[in-house]
Amino acid sequence: MNLWLLVQKILTHSAFAESFMPTQGTEIAKHVDNLYGFLLVASLISCVILIGGMLYFVVKYKRQSPNDKTAYITHDTRLEILWSVVPLIIFLIVFAWGWVIYHDMRSMPKDALEIHVNGKQWAWVSEYKNGVKSNEVVVPVGRDVRIILTADDVIHSFYVPSFRIKQDAVPGRYTDLWFRAEKMGDFHVFCTEFCGTSHSGMITKLRVVSQEDFDKWLTAESEVSTLPLAERGAKLFQTRACASCHNVDNPAAKVGPTMYKLFGLADHEMMDGSKVTADENYLRESILNSQAKIVKGFGPRSAMPAFQGQLSEVEVNALIEYIKGLK
Ligand code: CUA
Repeated sequence: MNLWLLVQKILTHSAFAESFMPTQGTEIAKHVDNLYGFLLVASLISCVILIGGMLYFVVKYKRQSPNDKTAYITHDTRLEILWSVVPLIIFLIVFAWGWVIYHDMRSMPKDALEIHVNGKQWAWVSEYKNGVKSNEVVVPVGRDVRIILTADDVIHSFYVPSFRIKQDAVPGRYTDLWFRAEKMGDFHVFCTEFCGTSHSGMITKLRVVSQEDFDKWLTAESEVSTLPLAERGAKLFQTRACASCHNVDNPAAKVGPTMYKLFGLADHEMMDGSKVTADENYLRESILNSQAKIVKGFGPRSAMPAFQGQLSEVEVNALIEYIKGLK
């Protein structure tokens, strides 16, 4: 085995690659890592030749005595061709290799499972064809999945490090990406476009499960609409990402005020000094138009998006019933 093959083997050996890279969750992740390995080795070799050669010449051609004359050297055509053509060939290899992988990543497979994923400050909401909404992305293993992205407010970016895929989610237009997960398990989804206060908290899970578990999950989620109101509200509180900004089981504030023991509070103090009673009407108004009344300490503008037109009447009721029960 020659040296190059050995280096390739070490770099692409999954245990080695995974000791400093995230798990390779897809076939494409392996291809990306191979190209990355090639770039790494090519850079290391060039670095050794360049820096090594420089140091060698510094020592070898050091002036020995004050009378030494520097030789008059112009150029060497063979050398110049060599150091132009060799890097050119390497760059062309990297270009072609990168293009093949990129082409693979950008060619959407036919018959893929399509999932709409919506980015908003500061959560991801995925929506399946049967109407199920979730704050996680759940997919079956070994199946082509196409994610159709958009955003509510500002630009976000959907990044799954283990799959080596990333795509911006832009308000007012659709972008997409695809993958076929090869391993079951939970993978991180990060937002990689700075999008405001809780950008760093805009994390969700991509759960890869068996086809059987996926079908079960999808059925169970679609039955949410038959649940009692408060339980449905608890689900909505997760799927609509309320939970990323509001605590429900302790009095501490997060990005927004806590929901714990909020309902029925008679002297709930607002930014302008007024006091309101936290009743159904107050909750309803705050959900649908978050700028209407701003709790003291959370101004000057509410960081919460307005849910007017985004929730049905029943969903608003469900949320209120859930918040009522947080005691
Ligand atoms: Cu969304 Cu950063």
